[in-house]
Amino acid sequence: MSAMAAVQRDARPSPSNTSSLIQVLPSGGACGAEVRGVDASKTLAPQVIKAVRDALVEHSVVYLRDQDITDEQLVAFGRNFGDLHAYQVTEYEKPAHLPPEVEMVSNIYIDGKQQGALGAGEARWHTDMSMFEFPSSFTFLFGEIVPESGGNTRFSSMYRAWDTLPDDLKRKVRGTYSIHDVAFMADGRVRPPYTAEDVKDRTQSPGGRHPVVRTHPESGREALYLGRIGFGYIFPYSVEESDTLLAQLWAHMTKPEFIWEHVWRKGDILIWDNRALSHARDALDPTRPRQMHRITAKGERPFWLGNPRLKSHAY
Ligand code: OGA
Ligand code: MN
Repeated sequence: MSAMAAVQRDARPSPSNTSSLIQVLPSGGACGAEVRGVDASKTLAPQVIKAVRDALVEHSVVYLRDQDITDEQLVAFGRNFGDLHAYQVTEYEKPAHLPPEVEMVSNIYIDGKQQGALGAGEARWHTDMSMFEFPSSFTFLFGEIVPESGGNTRFSSMYRAWDTLPDDLKRKVRGTYSIHDVAFMADGRVRPPYTAEDVKDRTQSPGGRHPVVRTHPESGREALYLGRIGFGYIFPYSVEESDTLLAQLWAHMTKPEFIWEHVWRKGDILIWDNRALSHARDALDPTRPRQMHRITAKGERPFWLGNPRLKSHAY
């Protein structure tokens, strides 16, 4: 049996929340739920937004099926969950008609031009935008073009990963912080305008400095928090010790029992909480078109309340 065969998909037990506002159907796995009863293209009542947010904080990743939404409506929906990033991804030429908050994730090429980020490549385990001081809280992906199979997105619960981490590893990383490299692209090349000189000393690399164990600002739970598999450095260890620790942590964080996998349908809006999850995607079949519209909400600076009774940051 391959490791992936043990990954949980929708076991679909009965709804945990049958309030008249929305329905929440937990996946039965370590994270994930379907939310029914929401048309994201409409202006939503504050109680509905709160119910969706509660479901999101409880299950860390939720999806809405059968949505029909313009980019402007997607932006309006996202704003219910926080300020949105308006940023530039340099790996493709963004179509002029897109609002500044919307990015594309696409494996489609038109006239030799890539239509969105990631292409058909693999997205190895990571959390979004953590190379910055204020990473994204939530990421929203709207499935505009979805292949019949392939291109599932996997999520691993960083609460479960922390809760089950062996005590010796807990002792080594509790209260430490790490570098979430900004100067490397996912494929390991140095990201312009950075140079090899900027990353020569890995203990000084540019990027976010965040606690390895963080307190979730809404649930109050502790979660492991690392940037991207294969990168990073944990203070105050030597580079060799840090590499060993990172390898042990990632091996634990990506165990099948913490993972739930979203199988896409056209019209899905998938929303995930980067403060509680890592996520990944396999390489895509380049001949099967897949195109997503993406927005991200700005989060707070990650913190750790080492002792919940002490209301101060640990670093
Ligand atoms: C992202 C991402 C995965 C996917 O947009 O941040 O990781 O399945 N996408 O496209
Ligand atoms: Mn991502």
